[in-house]
Amino acid sequence: MNEPIVLGIESSCDETGVGIVRGTELLGHRVASSVDEHARFGGVIPEVASRAHLEAIVPTLDGALAEAGMTVDDVDAIAVTSGPGLMGALLVGIAAAKALALAHDKPLYGVNHLVAHVAVDQLEHGRLDERVGALLVSGGHTEILLIDDIATDVTMLGTTLDDAAGEAFDKVARLLGLPYPGGPHIDRAAQAGDGAAIPFPRGLTRGRDMERHRWDFSFSGLKSAVARHVQGAELAGASVNVADVAASFQDAVCDVLTAKTVDACREHGVETLLVGGGVAANGRLRALIEERAAAAGLTVRVPRPNLCTDNGAMVAALGAEVVRRGLPPSSLDLAADSSLPVTTIVA
Ligand code: KG4
Ligand code: ZN
Repeated sequence: MNEPIVLGIESSCDETGVGIVRGTELLGHRVASSVDEHARFGGVIPEVASRAHLEAIVPTLDGALAEAGMTVDDVDAIAVTSGPGLMGALLVGIAAAKALALAHDKPLYGVNHLVAHVAVDQLEHGRLDERVGALLVSGGHTEILLIDDIATDVTMLGTTLDDAAGEAFDKVARLLGLPYPGGPHIDRAAQAGDGAAIPFPRGLTRGRDMERHRWDFSFSGLKSAVARHVQGAELAGASVNVADVAASFQDAVCDVLTAKTVDACREHGVETLLVGGGVAANGRLRALIEERAAAAGLTVRVPRPNLCTDNGAMVAALGAEVVRRGLPPSSLDLAADSSLPVTTIVA
């Protein structure tokens, strides 16, 4: 079979994304974000996000098709994020995908947003044709995955017991008076700071914790430690060194993420490690995973930053793998599942 042309739609949170791929080749890609509308609330407001998706979906679709030089009739299938994510936001993308599938008589595939964050790397570094380990780090999820087949076989080796890595970045940014979403602001502030300035805790890395939760994460203790540090400085009438706190916090997160992921990969005998999700755009995480993976003899694959954060190309990339394997399409009654587990790749 020729490489399938798939149009992918993403609307699980605050980005409306449409991407068009042919196999592992990216043909068109547009993202509209409602992040500015949420910034003053310090977090995503679901109703505001849903309304923004409604306004953005048609222009984003038109833009991606124009970039690819195509019409909907030229694509072989429509893929859409069916979960996990915000219910109202997911429904906008799903409704659009169903309308396109029905009007143009194309098969519809509801796919998993988290697995799509991993699949997107194929657009940059080629097809995954062997078993790989993956670190998935987004605003809502933090997981170590073992991927035997990106379209059919994903196992979760570890997850966070409390906050997701991105959530920790966003909460700590708020403590430091940095805007939402905090990840990119902490990344920038940290460049001027010393990551060894404050010895923040590394959750689940010692003794019994490590025995019971070898590949799991916990970031709530770290977040509290940053809060205590900031309060302590304020009570003492001292100013907080934002750059040092940002760098030390970021180092603590990246230290644990990279150490556990490399350990899980070695234990499972994989040779390639993939990193995906919004936090994979982080400069320190990218550098540290390269360093530690190289020391362990692993090859690292990380997509370019604008494919790490939410987009439609990732959905199309996963959709293309599902179509290539001839898996059955989803039904036209496809429902949104706000808590779809990472092991359910196609709905
Ligand atoms: O994957 P994503 O775009 O959306 C979800 O599926 O959640 O991830 C968003 C998260 C936010 O928490 C944001 O602060 C974080 O990714 N993020 C970063 C960076 N860019 C985005 N975190 C750290 N450093 C960055 N450069
Ligand atoms: Zn995401």
